[in-house]
Formats: sequence, structure tokens, C-alpha cells
Amino acid sequence: MKSLDFLQAANRCLVDGQWVGEPVDPVLNPATGAALAKVPCFGGEMAEEAVNAAGRAFGSWSTVTAGERARLLYDWFAEIIAHKERLARLLTMEQGKPLREARAEVEYAASFVRFYAEEARRIYGETIPSQRCSERILVARQAVGVMAAITPWNFPAAMVTRKVAPALAAGCTVVLKPAPETPLTALALAFLAQKVGFPAGVLNVVTGDAVAIGKVLTEHPKVRAVSFTGSSEVGKLLMRQAAATVKRVGLELGGNAPFIVFDDADIDAAVDGLVASKFRNMGQTCVCVNRIYVQVGIHDAFVVRLKARIEALSVGNGMDEGVTQGPLINKSAVLKIEQQIEDAVTRGARIIVGGRKHRLGGTYFEPTLITDVSSDMLVTREETFGPLAPVYRFSHEADVIKQSNDSPAGLASYFYTRDLSRAFRIAEALQFGMVGINSVNLSVDNAPFGGVKESGLGREGSRHGIEEYTDLKYILIGGL
Ligand code: SIN
Repeated sequence: MKSLDFLQAANRCLVDGQWVGEPVDPVLNPATGAALAKVPCFGGEMAEEAVNAAGRAFGSWSTVTAGERARLLYDWFAEIIAHKERLARLLTMEQGKPLREARAEVEYAASFVRFYAEEARRIYGETIPSQRCSERILVARQAVGVMAAITPWNFPAAMVTRKVAPALAAGCTVVLKPAPETPLTALALAFLAQKVGFPAGVLNVVTGDAVAIGKVLTEHPKVRAVSFTGSSEVGKLLMRQAAATVKRVGLELGGNAPFIVFDDADIDAAVDGLVASKFRNMGQTCVCVNRIYVQVGIHDAFVVRLKARIEALSVGNGMDEGVTQGPLINKSAVLKIEQQIEDAVTRGARIIVGGRKHRLGGTYFEPTLITDVSSDMLVTREETFGPLAPVYRFSHEADVIKQSNDSPAGLASYFYTRDLSRAFRIAEALQFGMVGINSVNLSVDNAPFGGVKESGLGREGSRHGIEEYTDLKYILIGGL
């Protein structure tokens, strides 16, 4: 296997340092519908083998020095960057996003590996003044054990490294189950990790039956932490399954992000931010803007400018130069947008741009703008996960805060204003884990990404991301 190129290696799974399985499950290119490659279809048994391998490897990996773990992570980072172009092409082919975005995702993915290489050496403990002269209290942070990562299709590289890198840095070993739609990038990343010398069993990747593998990863007593990014529905199920063995659970679930533009905002900056967030990955991110509230005084001017920007988006195969919008991941993604548009129009919304499947066919959809949207519509209550921009008109600050918070989701939120007092007031009132004020650039390696309410538990990225994979150990020393 060593002699194989990582693209070829991407059709086997990695368990205990061995590339295993027969390639049977096709991975489709959403741009063409053609099969790109096949991957193994394992069930619970192989997941169990992977957990056992990770369990065996934990003993030695958790005692490797932080400096050595950091060195391996730095080497992995360097390999990812060295293979950036090939990883980006693979990512676009299996996921559909434009190549420019895929390149940015590979850099984003690599940034977590570098960041946690740095953090590996900063897992600090503490000393606490003791209550007796003869005693000392120490607090150490120790790796939790085997960690299971279940990653989504919308960021096939970055969601892998955002979970795996902090876990490895902390001294955990990992079993990764990538999304069935996009396993190739994950396997390629694992190939590069193996190439730089991560020991056998430290990182394992299993593809196949999501339900059976997910059950083992959430119920096996050796797995001490589960980290999942995906829908709230699946997240709740995994959390229930993990409860029996009281695992640490990290969840990055659905969002329903409001984007509020106040009368005093810089309209051009707000339109730029909106387009960047709403149409990133064709609207398929959990932090994508979902509900656009524009104050009455600037509503019409905002819609005119937004319409022009949406009309300028270019739909096509993500591998083609100049394309800004690729295909959606599958037919049900298309169906969901169609249902939301139909429901909105029936209840009084107006289509300003788009509104239909794109003439290219397949899962391509026209970037769409609708106005006169109201709170009773499906698009208000559900996360769209597609290129549909619904605009609401509002008059009063208190009312827009109430509408924004009226959702079980609480991941990302955004607003544009030039009034400093309002900026603090609104940021504090929004019930979301992340708030972007005059900016949508929330996604960085050194800030804590995560939600409140039904959007999840725990944080990824930043120093908080590594804490998810460590337990505090209180050590009392007496007789001194
Ligand atoms: C996600 O959609 O799950 C992650 C988006 C991001 O990291 O920006």
C-alpha cells in the first residue's frame, strides 16, 4: 500500500495501520452523477475492530510526549498543504463545491492541524492552595481515551481535522466515520497521516453502514468521547445512544441563522457579507444565513443590490473556471428548497430571482431570492441548506430580536449596524453560540465554533476545542 498514491488508497479503510476492505459502495460525483470510486461497506464488526485497535494504541499514544505529538501533527499539516491541489480536486469531485472553495477548505482543514500541533504543548494543569500544610492539590488534564468522530458531507476535509487534530493532540486515539457521500477526502487525509508516521491504531477510518457503525461508536464502552456534525435529529439519537455509557458528547448540529440589517448599516458591506455566507458551498453550511431581516428604511435598496449580486453568480460544475455555485449534494436537497419556495409563494412571498431547478439539470438549482417572507412559512422554521435567500421586512429592534430568537436552533447569527451601543445590545440579546457583527467570517481555527439550544454541545477550534478531549484529574498529595 505504501507505494500507492493517496487517491488510489482512498478506496480502502484504515484499521490498526492496515488498509482493509473491498471497494463496493460507489461514491458519486454530484456534478455529473458518475461514480468516482468505490469504498468498503463495513458494518458494526469492523467498527468494533477499529475501536479495539484504537483502545490498544491509546496506552502508548497517550504517553508519547506532547512535543512528539506536535511534531507528527506539524508533519501532517505540511503533507496536507503539499497535496492541497489534489485534495481540493478530489473534494470538489465528491462534494460539488467550486474548486476555489475546495482549495479554501483544504487550507481551513490544515489550519486546525497546525493550530492543534501548537496547542498540544499547552495542555496545562493547575495547582490549588490546599487546606492543610501537609498537603498539595494538583489538577492535571488527561486524554479521555478513544474518540469517535462522525463527520458530515458538506466539509469533507475541515470537519475531519477540526475533530481529529485536537483529539490526537490531547493524546486520544480516533475512529473516524466519514459521511457516505464524501469518504474519499477523509481517506486521503488518513493516508497522509499514516505517511508521516502516526502509529498503527492511532487514527482509524471505517466506511459503510452508517447506522451499524454509529451504534458501535456511540455504545462501545471503550469509546469515551463522540463528536458528531450533522442534523439535529441524528445528533439527538447519537446522544441517546451514548448516554448508556456516559460518554462525552460533542455535537455541531443544525442552525437557522438570522442576518439582520439595520437602517444605519453599510448596505454594500451587508450585501457582500450576505452573499459570502448564504451562497458559500451553495448554501450547504450550518452557519449559512437562513433568514434575512432588513429594516424598512433600507429594505428596497438592499433588495435591489442583492438581486444584482445573485444574478451574477455562476452555476456549473465546480471544476470549471469561474463557477461560483456547484450542484447540491443530492435530490432530497433540491426537493427541500422546492418545498420551501412553494410554501412561501403560497403564503404570499414573491420570487425576485431564480426559484427553479437550474437548466443544467441534475441537482443544480438556481440561486434564489424571495421577498415578503413571514414567520408562518416553512423557510422560517426549517434550515434550508441550499441557495435560497428569504428577505423579511422589520421595523423595530425588539421585534427583530424576538423573531431571530424564535427558533430551537442557536448556532450562528449575524447583524450589520454602525451603532456601537446597539452592537453590544443585540450581541448580548441574540440566543446563539456565535454572533458576527458587520462580518460573516466566523470560521477560523483559533475561535470557539459551536451552538446553544438544539444546535449542539461543546466547542470546536480554539483552546476550548482541545478541552473537549481531556478530563480533569484532581491529585491530592498528603504527608508532606
Ligand atoms: C458546518 O457547516 O458544519 C461547518 C461550517 C464551518 O466550519 O464554517
